[in-house]
Amino acid sequence: MSETKKLFIKTYGCQMNVYDSERMAEAMGGAGYETTTAIEDADMILLNTCHIREKAAEKVYSELGRFKGLKEAKPDLKIGVAGCVAQAEGEEIVRRQPMVDLVVGPQAYHRLPEMEEKIRTGARALDTDFPEEDKFELLKSRPKGKRAPAAFLTVQEGCDKFCAFCVVPYTRGAEVSRPVDRVLSEARDLVDRGVREITLLGQNVNAYHGEGRDGRSRSLADLVWELDKVEGLERIRFTTSHPNDMQDDLIAAHGECKKLMPYLHLPVQSGSDKILKRMNRSHTAESYLRVIERIRAARPDILLSGDFIVGFPEETEEDFQATLDLIKEVKYGQAYSFKYSTRPGTPAAERPLVDDAEASDRLQRLQALITQQQRDIQNSMVGREVSVLLEKTGRLEGQMVGKSEYLHAVHVGGNPGAVGDIVRTRIVESLTNSLAGVRI
Ligand code: 5AD
Ligand code: SF4
Repeated sequence: MSETKKLFIKTYGCQMNVYDSERMAEAMGGAGYETTTAIEDADMILLNTCHIREKAAEKVYSELGRFKGLKEAKPDLKIGVAGCVAQAEGEEIVRRQPMVDLVVGPQAYHRLPEMEEKIRTGARALDTDFPEEDKFELLKSRPKGKRAPAAFLTVQEGCDKFCAFCVVPYTRGAEVSRPVDRVLSEARDLVDRGVREITLLGQNVNAYHGEGRDGRSRSLADLVWELDKVEGLERIRFTTSHPNDMQDDLIAAHGECKKLMPYLHLPVQSGSDKILKRMNRSHTAESYLRVIERIRAARPDILLSGDFIVGFPEETEEDFQATLDLIKEVKYGQAYSFKYSTRPGTPAAERPLVDDAEASDRLQRLQALITQQQRDIQNSMVGREVSVLLEKTGRLEGQMVGKSEYLHAVHVGGNPGAVGDIVRTRIVESLTNSLAGVRI
């Protein structure tokens, strides 16, 4: 019997990469690898990369440079690059960093075991094809081990929106949805392994249109209602959504489906109609605000989160002020904000840049406003009762940490219970990035 080899995976970027890394680990499990958290022990290192902003991509090359010593010490060590940098750069990676043995795009993971066999003979393996079939179905080996109580499940991949700044339509390809039955079977499997909360993932998850058993397509709301029937599954979330795909049935589900959590990540990017148009977002600030209004009518306590880009080409101070105005109107519980980063090959890459110091200043001002809103909402939770799904033990004796319905991290004291329990908790304090409470 051959001995087990060790695989070290480092994941960059979004939650979909986290999910993909888990699937790759499972696929490699079938090829005799087990994962390790100690890089020195690894027989194979896999970087699951992100290409969304320039810094993310450059990090990959500097990280690869650091493996030189490891490879010298252990010539059999195999190094692979997966994810969106692999997809976008392909052979260029090997040209820049010849010690890379394997390059695999996000649509070719199911071929990872074959590729590993190939590189064992000393050859290189490169695969950035887009398959016709559902790659997650091709990744058959599903282990039976216990899982943490909150899990991700990819239901949709790719994007047809082509925002002018974004590489996703190029790296992840066109929108594809997984059929309802496959999602349900994976969800039941997760629940059997201890999962109580599932976050449905997709670059454009609310554009989901997976095939139902009758061959007709289903909406994300239909999928949520199907998952609602899965016994043992207690919480459903989804991310990331586009404002133009917030259909009535999904908004209604937020009001009616008890398992659908009151949290929505709905990126707007900018509050200036001029900039939104140049971003090719196909919505205005006003139409976004109307969507928010309808969602809040269905679920008044929903916590909203967003994404913002500052310093998009030709953004003026007035445009930026419009973004701040929109933020003030919405009141976000949480948000991600970025300085615009030029991505070669995207339409915006051709346009004149905003002065870098100016863009940094805007980012700081925007983040200060968001932090303030986040604080206000967190503070308003003090004294309220929430439900917390316990995920792990806390730092203090007898304390557990988990997430509330609103995705706030909550430290629960007072005989909190065990991992996987969902416990009623009274919030007693608002901390910097979390809440503290006691079990009721
Ligand atoms: N520059 C800065 N931010 C970007 N994002 C996507 N592309 C870029 C870019 N070129 C941000 C958007 C998106 C989030 C995932 O990343 O806000 O919603
Ligand atoms: Fe990128 Fe999202 Fe726009 Fe698609 S909708 S192009 S993933 S920012």
